Amino acid sequence: MEIHLPKHFFMGAAMSGPQTEGAYKIGGKLENIWDTWSDCSISDFYNKVGSYVGNNFYERYEEDIRLMKDLGLDSFRTSIQWSRLMDPDQKLNKEGAGFYHKVCSCAREQGIELFMNLYHFDMPSYLFRRGGWENREVVEAYVTYARTAFREFGKEICYWFTFNEPIVEPDQRYRDGIWYPFVRDAKRGMAVQYHLSLAHSLAVREFKRAKEEGYLPEDARIGLINCFAPPYTREDPSPKDLEALRMEDGIRNRWWLDLVAEGRLPEDIVKRLEADGIMPEIRPGDKEILAEGKVDWLGFNYYHPSRVQAPEKRTDENGDPKYSDPYVWPKARMNIYRGWEIYPKGVYDFGMKMREEYPDLKFFISENGMGVEHEERFRGENGEIQDDYRIEFVKEHLEWIMKAIEDGAQCMGYHYWALIDNWSWNNAFKNRYGMIEVDLAENYQRRFKKSAGWIREVINNREK
Ligand code: BG6
Repeated sequence: MEIHLPKHFFMGAAMSGPQTEGAYKIGGKLENIWDTWSDCSISDFYNKVGSYVGNNFYERYEEDIRLMKDLGLDSFRTSIQWSRLMDPDQKLNKEGAGFYHKVCSCAREQGIELFMNLYHFDMPSYLFRRGGWENREVVEAYVTYARTAFREFGKEICYWFTFNEPIVEPDQRYRDGIWYPFVRDAKRGMAVQYHLSLAHSLAVREFKRAKEEGYLPEDARIGLINCFAPPYTREDPSPKDLEALRMEDGIRNRWWLDLVAEGRLPEDIVKRLEADGIMPEIRPGDKEILAEGKVDWLGFNYYHPSRVQAPEKRTDENGDPKYSDPYVWPKARMNIYRGWEIYPKGVYDFGMKMREEYPDLKFFISENGMGVEHEERFRGENGEIQDDYRIEFVKEHLEWIMKAIEDGAQCMGYHYWALIDNWSWNNAFKNRYGMIEVDLAENYQRRFKKSAGWIREVINNREK
């Protein structure tokens, strides 16, 4: 089936500062939590490739933005690295700012709209050592950083995001103990989640102030990006399965959706967490702060759904409450390299949920992509990687997005993750996501894969 993108549907690329820039000690960049983890345990990273390299975007941003233009993309999301923009006294690092100014002017020259995110899992280490997101002082430091960024780049960047996937920080680092500092503690996880919610809301407040004070244009927009994986349970659920689904959805999705659409946290979930003794204290004045958290639009990162069922035990090995167990759907189609289920209809279901429950909030697909290991296996005779699996993946997702739009979802565009192969955290360069290959053996040289030509066609065929 041919894909016909609507006229005003934007198409772009998503990436992040810490996964692309490299130059980790250049231009006054401070150590961040990934550098700290790499320094203290490099074997945790695939092929011992730590946070230092990125994909050399720091040197190659002009080439990369030209490549985007060449493919017909109209927009590009990346993130400012907090550890590059700010010095240890929480003042602007002019050299760091200089790099982002160069990126802005290059994007402008190429006619690519820049979407700028402020935080992509990259806490400066000196703040992490003060307690990171567990400490409310760090929330204040983030607000100072956000204010500085809005003022510094307000004339150059129109589209801003406070956070990428705020749910990942408490989940991966503090609840599931997968990422450094490897904590498994529900109460600490909720403190992080709550402080991120305050940080988001205070940054939105700063954004509005910067607009009032003329630092940002009237049409500047602020948003939040999260991976609102639509949760599912068994096809013949018990009441306990449905309760597990409600809690999963409540903590991971509704928490953020209610915050950004209504300026509050879901009351039923807060009550339950309080009853279970893991909800942090809501201090006087906090509700007023959260009320500022409403945004202009939303980014939805979609890779896979989440499937849950009633938990076998009500508590985990630490005695912390357990609200669900994973459910393995027998019909699941898997991306075996990443271990993620491929379920393109999830974007449609999310679109319908938004239409029904948050009809005033527009959204776009801010990340979607497929990471594959050992892609050199698929190199054709002409030297190009024949990534038909990626074409099929994106095509299926775009088809469901088009159907969601037809059925009334306010989905405004699509960003592919990551247009150019980049550093995938502790998986480093194991799974490649790009439509553009990065050759690590040839000084990060870029080469189109087959999917790059395909996406160019899709964009060319957009309704005129
Ligand atoms: C998203 C993140 O969750 O998934 C990206 O915003 C990340 O930073 C992407 O790279 C793919 O996940 P991974 O772990 O395979 O890199």
